[in-house]
Amino acid sequence: MAPVKRGVIVDVGSGRGEFTSQLKRRNPNSRVIGIDRDPSSKTRIKMSTVEFFSRLKNPERVKKVWLNHVDIISREAFQEFEHMVKTIPSGTHIMLTVRRERLQQVKHALTACSKYGIKINSEQEYNPKMIGSETTKKFYEEAHSSGNTQKMPIRIVAVKM
Ligand SMILES: C[S@@+](CC[C@H](N)C(=O)[O-])C[C@H]1O[C@@H](n2cnc3c(N)ncnc32)[C@H](O)[C@@H]1O
Repeated sequence: MAPVKRGVIVDVGSGRGEFTSQLKRRNPNSRVIGIDRDPSSKTRIKMSTVEFFSRLKNPERVKKVWLNHVDIISREAFQEFEHMVKTIPSGTHIMLTVRRERLQQVKHALTACSKYGIKINSEQEYNPKMIGSETTKKFYEEAHSSGNTQKMPIRIVAVKM
């Protein structure tokens, strides 16, 4: 995936922050921000998605938002996601990584956001050539070695029109 030249990339649910670091290395000309609501996470910005996007001074600078293995299905999680979707500018890419067993529910949640201009651009099975968090890599190895395709990580790219 081509680096984002300028603007802001947000890693929602960044946990230990290693994926955020990968994003920083790949996008040296962008501001990469990891957020996580868990106070015990390694992330500097310990905030929920709603808090972060409500406080963001220049939301129009957001170009890409990553959600790797972050719940958007449960009622509370969907409300947070919906708030984010309303806040981000047109043209923002939303990159989600989910296990195949969750794919239909996640696509359903994205379809529910179509009224805000969200459209699914692509979905692709994860492979090790792609950028991925430690969790994604672990899930891939597990699914690959057990042959349980329901556990395979899938990368969805959605865009706000
Ligand atoms: C399963 S972990 C995945 C961590 C990392 N993205 C990865 O792939 O290794 C999910 C993380 O998302 C965080 N999280 C979940 N919902 C969130 C929200 N609405 N706002 C901020 N962080 C959230 C959790 O605290 C947790 O650290």
